[in-house]
Order: sequence, then C-alpha cells, then structure tokens
Amino acid sequence: MGYRSRAAFKLIEIDEKDKLIRPGMTVVDLGSAPGSWSQVLRQRLARPGRQGIHGRIIALDILPMEPVADVEFVLGDFRDEEVDAQLSAMLDGQKVDLVLSDMAPNLSGVASADAARIAHVVELAVDFSHRHLKPSGALLVKCFNGSGYSQLVEEFKRVFHTVSPRKPPSSRSESSETFLLGRNLRV
Ligand SMILES: C[S@@+](CC[C@H](N)C(=O)[O-])C[C@H]1O[C@@H](n2cnc3c(N)ncnc32)[C@H](O)[C@@H]1O
Repeated sequence: MGYRSRAAFKLIEIDEKDKLIRPGMTVVDLGSAPGSWSQVLRQRLARPGRQGIHGRIIALDILPMEPVADVEFVLGDFRDEEVDAQLSAMLDGQKVDLVLSDMAPNLSGVASADAARIAHVVELAVDFSHRHLKPSGALLVKCFNGSGYSQLVEEFKRVFHTVSPRKPPSSRSESSETFLLGRNLRV
C-alpha cells in the first residue's frame, strides 16, 4: 500500500514490537495529517472480506486531511478546549484503547520555547488519555530528547504503570525525535 507519509513506518515498526493495534479497538490519532498513521490503523482494523472496520478510529489535526475511509476526522487545534470538548462528545463516554500522538508543534528555533511547546502538547495528550483510556489502554506520543524530556517521562510515570522509550529504526538516528509509550493506567 502507498502510504501518504513515511511516518507510517515508524508506527508499523513500533507496533511490530509492542502489538498495540488490534481489531475491535477504539483509537484516537492526534496530529493525523496527512494521514499515514490513520491508513495503518485502518488496515489493522479491517474486516477481511467485508466492508468497514472492526473498531473505531478518530483522527484530529489542525490542518485539513484528505479523507481516509472509515476514519472520523476532527479539524482543530488540540490545545483548544472546544476541540477537546468535541472529541469528548464524539466519544460520548466510550472508553478508548489506544491514543497516538505524532503532533509536532511549529518550532521557533529557541530551544527553551520549543521544549515548552512540545511539553505542552504531550501533557495535553497525557491528560486526555487519563480521562478517556480504558485501564488497560496505551498512549504512544512523539517527543524530542533534550530539554524537558525527563519531566515528560516523570509525567508518564505518574499516569501509567509501564513507561518505555521507543526509537523505531526508520526515525533518523541523528534526529532528536523519539517516542514514549505508556501502558496500563494507574487508576
Ligand atoms: C509529523 S505530522 C503527523 C504525520 C501523521 N502521523 C501521518 O502519519 O501522516 C505532525 C502533525 O501534527 C499536527 N499538529 C501539530 N500541532 C497540533 C495541534 N496543536 N493540534 C492538532 N494537530 C497538530 C500538524 O498539523 C501535523 O500535521
């Protein structure tokens, strides 16, 4: 399958190791455009020989995204309370199995300001997961090694029993991009 972005391979590689995505799941894909993670999710939730998917995929981005079949898309800034409220209304109490965040805020080049921007969206994703995940659920977020990283790990440890750093082979080794995986909510 032709993916819309090479980012697909990062999710595929992490999933090969951690077996995060399974049919029947409800998954939220934050920072979804142009849509390659949603494409991977759709493939994993596909029903062989039948239309549609087994499960639910809700994707969100501040930028428009070409539709991916069977994926519900929300256009908005995840930092806006209204957008959070819209996602909560769509879930309507339904608990989520997996939250993914590949959100990458626009960076200014000023290291301290950038670290704060990155930390802010990651913290929002952690808070969202705390409210909406099933106890057995998982959160995978992109973050960046460097200033603020150790505080994010601590934040994850407050919310999840198991916290693991992940650097998939297709993420360039010279890039500070890395991922954090939290599993099993502390309730
Ligand atoms: C690396 S791209 C995601 C690629 C995507 N996972 C894929 O596989 O196609 C990062 C995305 O995060 C989005 N983003 C950054 N900050 C955001 C925010 N505050 N709210 C929603 N989306 C955001 C950007 O618009 C961008 O599309």
